Amino acid sequence: MKVKKGSSFYEDETTKAVELLTDQKMQVVYYAVEADHRIVLTPNDYSVTTMFYILSGSFKVQDQKGTRNYQANDVFLFVDPTQSVEFHASEFSRVLAVTSEHNQSVAAAGEYGELIKKVEEKDKYTYGHSNRVSAYAMSLALSYDAGYNIVDLGTAAALHDLGKVYTPKEILQKPGKLTKEEFEIIKNHPADTYRLLVETTSVKIAEAAAQHHERLDGSGYPKGLKGEAISMDARIIAVADVFDAMTCRRTYNEPQPMMDVVAYLEGQPEKYDARIVAILKRRVEDGSAARIMKNYSAIEN
Ligand SMILES: [Fe+2]
Ligand SMILES: [Fe+2]
Repeated sequence: MKVKKGSSFYEDETTKAVELLTDQKMQVVYYAVEADHRIVLTPNDYSVTTMFYILSGSFKVQDQKGTRNYQANDVFLFVDPTQSVEFHASEFSRVLAVTSEHNQSVAAAGEYGELIKKVEEKDKYTYGHSNRVSAYAMSLALSYDAGYNIVDLGTAAALHDLGKVYTPKEILQKPGKLTKEEFEIIKNHPADTYRLLVETTSVKIAEAAAQHHERLDGSGYPKGLKGEAISMDARIIAVADVFDAMTCRRTYNEPQPMMDVVAYLEGQPEKYDARIVAILKRRVEDGSAARIMKNYSAIEN
């Protein structure tokens, strides 16, 4: 397991780390940090998709890309852990770091963080998209069911557009409407995502990621799956993906207000799972969606 035991990365004794669980499949480490103290995780301490869940308090998290603020119930993962990350506790705060077997195998493959960076570099308007979709998805899932396997979900969400690494830049960045042929090329990315992930993660994660453009009424792609055939993970990722795409500036449209996007999704219960959209509405109302957006747009500049 990559998350280190011992005291090498603690600033002092006011930080406590307890390994709650370590087996072949998963490691869960609990950190409690006194006010004004910090933990520093190096690339050896966490893997490419270790999931962090803030239990209480608040952390300022700093890496090379900037500073973000997290509060209780926020969940997030770093797609590109090549740098040390510092967690500064503004008050007494507790965080769980969950690393799963699948995440370990992704980490072993090593290249996904790099690939995602490549995808996002191709189209600067999608910068941070993977991290945001992952954070939105995990936050929605926790409200849907407290026992939800958000590590698998967060991994699938963070890597859902991986297949775009094969999509030509000119198509991804094209302003205005795509031709039929261009759209057919775009439509290849979920299958490519599947191919890349099924080898190194699990069928469950690969499928969840590959189904993010499927819609409940069968109008989606690539397979035109309907209803129950679309996994819960994929339904959650679909809502998070559309929400992020529409609330962010893209080459061809202006960002839309979060509540307008919620209304857009609410208006199509035949396509988007209404239970998940209802939870999204609450996350917009309570400000946690805005916090996720702010945290990951801070990275852009
Ligand atoms: Fe996609
Ligand atoms: Fe996406």
